[in-house]
Order: sequence, then structure tokens, then C-alpha cells
Amino acid sequence: MSLKIDLLEQSFESVKQREAEFTTQFYANLFSDYPIVKPLFANTHMEEQGKKLFASLVLVVDALRKPEVLENALKGLGTRHVQYGVLPQHYPMVGGALLKTFEALLGSDWTPELKQAWIDAYGSVTQLMLEGADYPSEILKPVET
Ligand code: HEM
Repeated sequence: MSLKIDLLEQSFESVKQREAEFTTQFYANLFSDYPIVKPLFANTHMEEQGKKLFASLVLVVDALRKPEVLENALKGLGTRHVQYGVLPQHYPMVGGALLKTFEALLGSDWTPELKQAWIDAYGSVTQLMLEGADYPSEILKPVET
């Protein structure tokens, strides 16, 4: 899949200037839409966490043109997330909160094309993090309904 790098970079330029607003809204969206993930952050210093999350987004966008750097960093990040108690099914929740936050911050600049570009980018990030995570196969089986 080819990511729309120009579009992702451009849209992130304006978000970059609004770090505090972005992280506050992101965690507010995540916890109100997906309260199930709240316990994972029970002992987390949220201000520090917001800075780390934002720094990793900056890193991802900066590294879009250097896939090898991105790949190793994201696989390592995925490995660490297993220790944080994060499961594969939590990834779409964080993705949903990210998109909602972008939409709120970018207003009329949040076009369907841009939305799709971020969905694709987040999908690639998730895939690499899960490759680094090495979850036992039982966890990766689809949930039976
Ligand atoms: C694009 C996907 C994600 C990115 C870029 C990301 C980024 C980060 C970063 C940079 C850290 C700091 C620690 C470290 O570097 O190892 C972190 C910690 C953490 N993340 Fe994520 N994360 C992602 C997905 C998720 C998901 C899906 C969850 C589950 C809801 C999650 C929950 C956590 C938790 C619980 C911590 C540990 C907080 C602590 O130190 O107490 N993350 N994440």
C-alpha cells in the first residue's frame, strides 16, 4: 500500500503546533468512547504519557520517508505494549480516538481523502506494532460470537 505521505505531512504540520490540545482531546475521546481501556492507564502519569504519545506520532510522520527506521521503531514499540497489557483488539480503539481528535482539530481541513490517508497510515502502524508484539495465537484468533 502506498501511503499519501505529502497529505499526511501537511495535515500534521498544523497539529504539531497544538500538542497540548491534541493530547488532552485524544485521551478524553479515548476514555469516553472506550472506557474499557481506562484500567490500562491506572498507574500512568497522563501528562508524561501524552507527551510520549505525541512524540511517537511526530516520529512516525517524520519517518514516513524512511520505512526501515519506522519498521524497527514500531516493532519495538509493539513489543513493549504487550507488557503494558495492551491487546490487539485495543488498537482500533486508539485509532478511532485518533481520527476523532484529528477531525475536531482540523475542522474543514479534515477531508474524506485525508481521513482515508490516516486510516491507511494507522493500519500500517498497527500491523508493524503487532508484528513486533508476538501475541500467542489464541489471542489473535477471531472472537467467536
Ligand atoms: C499507534 C499506536 C500507538 C502508539 C504510537 C503508542 C505510543 C506509545 C508510547 C510512545 C508509549 C510510551 C512508552 C514506550 O515508548 O514504550 C506508550 C505507552 C503506553 N501505551 Fe501506547 N501507543 C499506541 C497504541 C496503544 C494502544 C492500542 C493502547 C491500548 C489502549 C496503548 C496503551 C498504552 C499504555 C497502557 C502505555 C503505558 C503507559 C505507562 O507507562 O503506564 N497504546 N504508547
